[in-house]
Amino acid sequence: MTEETIFKIGDTSIKGDLILAPMDGVTDMPFRGLCRQLGSALSVTEFINTLDVLTDHPRYKKRLAFEPFHRPLSLQFLGDEAEQILAAAEILIPEVQPDLIDINLGCQSKNVVARGAGAALLREPNKIAEIFNLMTREFELPITAKIRLGWDDDNLNYLEVARIIEANGGAMVAVHGRTRQQAYRGSANWEPIREIKQAIKIPVIGNGDVKTVADIDRIKNETGCDAVMIGRAAVGNPWIFSRMDRDDVPPPVVLRTINHHLAAMLAFYGERGVITFRKYLKAYLKPYHLPDDTLLSLLKSKDIDFVVQLLEKIFSTI
Ligand SMILES: Cc1cc2nc3c(=O)[nH]c(=O)nc-3n(C[C@H](O)[C@H](O)[C@H](O)COP(=O)(O)O)c2cc1C
Repeated sequence: MTEETIFKIGDTSIKGDLILAPMDGVTDMPFRGLCRQLGSALSVTEFINTLDVLTDHPRYKKRLAFEPFHRPLSLQFLGDEAEQILAAAEILIPEVQPDLIDINLGCQSKNVVARGAGAALLREPNKIAEIFNLMTREFELPITAKIRLGWDDDNLNYLEVARIIEANGGAMVAVHGRTRQQAYRGSANWEPIREIKQAIKIPVIGNGDVKTVADIDRIKNETGCDAVMIGRAAVGNPWIFSRMDRDDVPPPVVLRTINHHLAAMLAFYGERGVITFRKYLKAYLKPYHLPDDTLLSLLKSKDIDFVVQLLEKIFSTI
């Protein structure tokens, strides 16, 4: 991992240009740790629902867990009102001491937008201004945003939103090149990322459909973005943060990483970690096209020793 500062978010040095994108239900503490070890330059939590913090709902606590080597750590908040996000931050900042706070302006799920949070805020630029104004006045640490291009193709207000974030003290904008209406359909449009980079001075992070090392180079060249966020492609290929395509990772390294990841899951979740691990395991094994029955017995088992031994056997023949 490089020790050189590649860019700064406020006063926080970021020593790399590849960053694991936050993903609800995916980028938990073990996966963030693994990706950080492999080169992700920043650890962003899954979104923390501000209402959970304010009602002290136990479900959010595991989402902020981290180890010292994960830093720089960004806590991502999902909320709909400036005062509510501020109140949640007042509780968590002293407790967690994150390096950055990120505001989720991109989540597209029905429940979230129905509540006026995530991508719904793109329709209310005044609220975005209020959130950034309040948060940056109240706290010393950098406040950043993760946005989409707009609500839909008729409301592509990414430039307005990016300028509002900057004008109200925001320290970085990460841009997923899709609208809310697109959800994850179609392909990401990187041209707006280039336009945003030209329009504002704070760092811009490009995101959407980066799957290979060639994609990393392409999004950087086409947009001039300061760094690249990678989400779905990191599941199954966390080595992308070491600039390795999946096909270039030798099977013994894959097995070693699987065992390391599984051990981290068990340490974090207890025995049920073997169940939570299935989604990653399936992705790790995808390139090998294993017979269905072998894959099923692996992905259905709760018996940790069985899983470890079967993996050993499978990899001895790959
Ligand atoms: C399962 C899943 C959960 C996600 N959860 C979050 C989240 O909590 N916060 C957020 O800002 N974006 C979230 N995203 C969006 C990703 O951060 C990213 O913007 C998107 O997946 C596009 O990047 P990719 O093509 O590299 O996956 C999520 C995406 C997925 C697939």
